[in-house]
Amino acid sequence: PASDPGLVERARRAKEKLGDRVFILGHHYQRDEVIQFADVTGDSFKLARDAAARPGAEYIVFCGVHFMAESADILTGPDQRVILPDLAAGCSMADMARLAQVEDAWDVLADAGVAEKTVPVTYMNSSADIKAFCGRNGGVVCTSSNAKRVLEWAYQQGEKVFFLPDQHLGRNTAVLQLGYELDDCVVYDPRQPNGGLTRQQLRDAKVILWRGHCSVHGRFTPEAVDEARARIPGVQVLVHPECQHEVVLKADLIGSTEFIIQTIEAAEPGTKWVIGTELNLVQRLAKNHPELEISFLERIVCYCATMNRIDLPHLVQSLENLVEGRVVNQIEVDPDTERSAKQALQRMLDLPG
Ligand code: 13P
Ligand code: SF4
Repeated sequence: PASDPGLVERARRAKEKLGDRVFILGHHYQRDEVIQFADVTGDSFKLARDAAARPGAEYIVFCGVHFMAESADILTGPDQRVILPDLAAGCSMADMARLAQVEDAWDVLADAGVAEKTVPVTYMNSSADIKAFCGRNGGVVCTSSNAKRVLEWAYQQGEKVFFLPDQHLGRNTAVLQLGYELDDCVVYDPRQPNGGLTRQQLRDAKVILWRGHCSVHGRFTPEAVDEARARIPGVQVLVHPECQHEVVLKADLIGSTEFIIQTIEAAEPGTKWVIGTELNLVQRLAKNHPELEISFLERIVCYCATMNRIDLPHLVQSLENLVEGRVVNQIEVDPDTERSAKQALQRMLDLPG
């Protein structure tokens, strides 16, 4: 179906019929067959910012995962409806932090006497109710492209940061960009009583990391970086900050998907690159840049299974439903959650730069 000309034609026709009534957003990890129909592509920061760019569009079709569609619903007007072409497109990292667990953890921090000095920061890759928790507690959202700036802001508000749900992004940013020590970081494990931490550990820590990770980026290993360097002399290693700290330490450049794309677009012809991020994006970069030598960091196939659920048949179905006036798979955040989550998102969007 990837190259099914019938489906391509149906998508084109439905999009044409909908005209300005539909606005299609596509995350960089989406399949090429879907990306070709996106009005805007981006990393999660750019897509959150651009979601509200077409206030006149009745329908926002979000080709990405559930938490991104929720953020788009929060940031767009009350009459705009956000559609996720396949409701099963979740995110295993976002699923690692549930509201009840996070509220329990906050009680543990309060018992240790540290909650009032702590600013909760959640990565964009979390559910709307976790963003709302941060909004209610003076916290903020960050993405992989602004984590440094957001953490700097958080440390102006309090002494400690409680970082949800990606321990790797939190650790990589605090240690490599803000200069904290690894010893300043502790990991709160929601499966253990009191997160597996003593009160003293919570009092001493500067960075309290939630025990969550990305199941795609978590698969890259430091050995793969060594192996790539041995195999390809002169190679530059470019990885996403969701990778483990040991991997990021061995890389040459670290950044969000948008940063990875900009780096490759600015690269000198003939240079060699190994990229550690989701495979759809790496394959697209390799195809679009034959003047560079681009390869994938790991020797395993590393797609994000949930991003990949949005395929051309699902997109066609969504668009054709809209042509027929049927709004299927709408993502709607309840008003209370929306109000608090918007505070946390807005604090991020209002930061300069
Ligand atoms: P960015 O889009 O911020 O680079 O994040 C990558 C990711 O894992 C999205 O799910
Ligand atoms: Fe979630 Fe990782 Fe997939 Fe991004 S790449 S949607 S963080 S599982």
